[in-house]
Amino acid sequence: MSEPESFDLGDLSGLADGDKTFVDVGEYGIVVCRVKGELFALEDNCSHADTPLSEGRLRGYNLTCPLHGTSFDVRDGTHSGPPAYTGVPCYKVEERDGVAVAIGSSSDDTDADGFGEVGGMFRTR
Ligand code: FES
Repeated sequence: MSEPESFDLGDLSGLADGDKTFVDVGEYGIVVCRVKGELFALEDNCSHADTPLSEGRLRGYNLTCPLHGTSFDVRDGTHSGPPAYTGVPCYKVEERDGVAVAIGSSSDDTDADGFGEVGGMFRTR
């Protein structure tokens, strides 16, 4: 079995509780959120129409897309409902010697509902 993909997120010790930041790694970048002291990371791309979730609003564990309002749980990438059809890839975050690292993702099952690349026809960036 191969090693899960990982991304260096840098020093996020200054990220305040309830705040989020964009890290330019991977295909779309990763939005990292700190909630109740813990770091969570999602691919920075709404599954509905390819909008950066880092421009949305973080309330508790929910990150809301700025375009049409679907919210995603930062703990597992699941979505609250339409207009998004699926969740977004979610990464496990570990802090190693002051540097945060995003590991793996749950992207394998995000298209499992049979709708496929729904966002592809609505690309906004
Ligand atoms: S682009 Fe995110 S809900 Fe439509």
